[in-house]
Amino acid sequence: MSKKLKDAYTLSSKEDTINLYKYWSKNYDKDFAVRNNYKSPQKVVKYFLKYSKQNDTPVLDVGAGTGLIAVYLKKKISIPIHAIDISKEMLDQSRQKKCYEKIIIADLNKKLNVGNCTYGAIVSSGTFTHGHLEANVLKELLRVVKPNGLFVISIHQSFFIKGGFKNQLESFGSMINNLKIHKVYIYGKIGSKIFNKDKVLITTFRKNC
Ligand SMILES: C[S@@+](CC[C@H](N)C(=O)[O-])C[C@H]1O[C@@H](n2cnc3c(N)ncnc32)[C@H](O)[C@@H]1O
Repeated sequence: MSKKLKDAYTLSSKEDTINLYKYWSKNYDKDFAVRNNYKSPQKVVKYFLKYSKQNDTPVLDVGAGTGLIAVYLKKKISIPIHAIDISKEMLDQSRQKKCYEKIIIADLNKKLNVGNCTYGAIVSSGTFTHGHLEANVLKELLRVVKPNGLFVISIHQSFFIKGGFKNQLESFGSMINNLKIHKVYIYGKIGSKIFNKDKVLITTFRKNC
């Protein structure tokens, strides 16, 4: 595991998060995504395309970072996507890609300045993981999603129980439906080998009407 990834997994405060991503933002795509053949954004897009319907818009990309999900999504379909992230510098990188209709700088651990039932879908990759966001954030995201809105989020496999996702999803009970969990590798092959065999659970469900 690279030092930066280790630093990311052990973040323990808002300030540390902001500082790490400020430092990482300019070379995140090259240094992390390309170098490690990082696949989570593409996998989230794959499952979004599989389960979404025409009216699942606008889409909110949670912990959007430098905008990798939006780049892949916009290659496939033309729909409005908004980005939300705590890191101004990561979002500055995403701005250059011109893939988001709206960019919001906000701490997802707090109540969002977003109206009830605003979004048709939530997508997220790499943000529900060690040192980042835990399952309690899902309650606020459920508030801002329209009835029948779609969630397609990656959750690090080894954080699913520790981060409270199993309990949170169970406690949603009849507030959600069609829960499906797909286990996929986070990283693709480099040469002929997958060097890092970590997995994420691409978790999909809809908010009940
Ligand atoms: C590993 S990056 C993932 C970025 C992008 N989704 C991707 O897959 O490349 C995690 C992102 O989560 C954001 N993040 C971490 N804690 C956050 C918080 N409390 N509120 C909002 N964003 C947060 C970071 O700023 C960072 O951009």
